[in-house]
Amino acid sequence: MSSFELKESLDAVLNLGQSDKHTILIVDDEENNLQLLRRTFRGQYNILMAHNGMEGLDVVKQHSDEISLIVSDQKMPVMEGTEFLKKVKEINPQIVKVLLTGHVDTDILVAAINDCELFQYILKPFEPEELKIAVEKGIEKYSMASNNKVFYNELRELFYKTIRAISNALDTKDTYTNGHSLRVTLYSMILAKELNLDDAYLEDIEIAGLLHDIGKIAMPKSILCKNGRLTDDEFLIMKSHPVRGEKIVINIKKLEVISEWVKSHHEKWDGTGYPDGLKGEEIPLAGRIIALADTYDAMTSTRPYRTALSHETAISEIKRCTGTQFDPKLATIFVSLSDKIDEARKNPEVVYPKYSLLAKNIDFKIFSEASQSSASSINSSENV
Ligand SMILES: [Fe+2]
Repeated sequence: MSSFELKESLDAVLNLGQSDKHTILIVDDEENNLQLLRRTFRGQYNILMAHNGMEGLDVVKQHSDEISLIVSDQKMPVMEGTEFLKKVKEINPQIVKVLLTGHVDTDILVAAINDCELFQYILKPFEPEELKIAVEKGIEKYSMASNNKVFYNELRELFYKTIRAISNALDTKDTYTNGHSLRVTLYSMILAKELNLDDAYLEDIEIAGLLHDIGKIAMPKSILCKNGRLTDDEFLIMKSHPVRGEKIVINIKKLEVISEWVKSHHEKWDGTGYPDGLKGEEIPLAGRIIALADTYDAMTSTRPYRTALSHETAISEIKRCTGTQFDPKLATIFVSLSDKIDEARKNPEVVYPKYSLLAKNIDFKIFSEASQSSASSINSSENV
């Protein structure tokens, strides 16, 4: 490599991520071919080079996020082009792959296209113009996929930030239960994770936990923050929050699935809960999970007219109500997770990120505002 070429390569690497140019990796064991490829793309792209698949993999591992496209020869010692590109797919499936091959074996090419998600193959010897056009189209494909990904991620972030903002507003509206929704979410996720539910379900549980009391937004502050026990009439109004919550979330397409869970988080296993008096497995699984987490948090939190129960007493209360208020299988698992739940209660800001699927978009500082002061007593049946 001449000193000019060395400088050019170094510049390309140093400029990674700093210029608008896309970065491409060219891989060929024959130095002449490698230089021909370099000259073909010089000026238009940042160029990285490797002499075989193994070397190419090292470059991809180091620059996975910067590389938009790879042009690789097929016939190389150490590792063939198709094997190399297959491994690239595992590292970063978004990188567009172009294969240079002297073979016209259709079966091999079809297998390569499928295994490597090949964008295009070019037969050797090739016209530089033909290869340039193929690479330009590949870069267009990469840009389109990247823009879609960025757009999707932005929408997703906006959605979760909105959920968090609503949950935060809810938790701060009732000054005595500050941090309640986030703690309920955390306990629900600890329990749900133990049930080996898939990530999509866990993510929905997380959202449902954050929004389970969303219906309380419609509650008058005079009732929500009353400094004493609720009258029967006030209690009736308060009991409408699961249905109000369901009506709020059911109209949001992405939240439709959790509307039944929001509605059912005050149902009881023996059918004595509200709003529908559902019994046993008529209550959605997530509703039964959130009910346990919700009641545990209500018992271990403080209200102005009652003292928080200790963790041990709350767990005993859950044991006592197993099979009546709570799903016996879930309650037994919840009790078996007692240490983890207690640790989460004491350090939610440390434990939450370990379970949260939305963690990147959640502001954990909210936990520092959570109120844990003391007063008189509550048992599991007093949770509204
Ligand atoms: Fe509730």
